[in-house]
Amino acid sequence: MKDEVIDLRNTPLISPQSIRSPKYALRDFAGILVLNGEIVLRTNKLAHDIQNDYESKKLVLVGVLDGSVHFIKDLSEGIGIPIKRTFIKVSSYRDNTTSGEIELHLNPMINLNGMDVLIVEDIVDSGKTLQFIIDEIKQKFNPNTVKTCSLLDKAEKRAPGFENVVADYTGFIIPDEFVVGYGLDFADNYRGYRHIAVLKPEVFSK
Ligand code: IMP
Ligand code: MG
Repeated sequence: MKDEVIDLRNTPLISPQSIRSPKYALRDFAGILVLNGEIVLRTNKLAHDIQNDYESKKLVLVGVLDGSVHFIKDLSEGIGIPIKRTFIKVSSYRDNTTSGEIELHLNPMINLNGMDVLIVEDIVDSGKTLQFIIDEIKQKFNPNTVKTCSLLDKAEKRAPGFENVVADYTGFIIPDEFVVGYGLDFADNYRGYRHIAVLKPEVFSK
């Protein structure tokens, strides 16, 4: 049975001082929102749901570079049926916060024709990127089915016209804060941090 998405919108942050953290974390993070252990537990649950739903299908996970790399590793390890795995890259001409024009500029290396595609994203914010990827994959690669899995969802941030964009599998609903770590970045920094942390606004606005 599928369970409820975990809502972290009213969860207090954990101080980076209270666990072993590198110096940059103490300097740049307002606090930790999700510990690595919680991410892995939740990801295993999603993997279990996916395994049940795709038992007799031709599942290919399509990870969105670069942010989904940590998530897709843990997710695919938890899925106990044979799966394929590939990556795509999209560019968005954005100044960090506003999605402009988006372009898929790296094709999947696996033929998606007739496959059951599960797009794996790090986070859904305005919803524009995920909707664009769904449309592109359906149009260009002739898959059998297309579904989506996102670790994080900033549910309150959907752009007008994108209110209905919701991933089929979601790890956590999070508040409207800029988060980094576990693959997520700010200007390509912090991707290697194992937990998901909220960036201090002063770092973000520099
Ligand atoms: P959307 O098109 O606005 O939904 O943006 C989705 C993309 O924006 C994600 O794939 C991320 O790359 C990026 N993004 C949005 N919010 C955050 C955040 O809080 N931290 C890091 N990246 C983010
Ligand atoms: Mg991304």
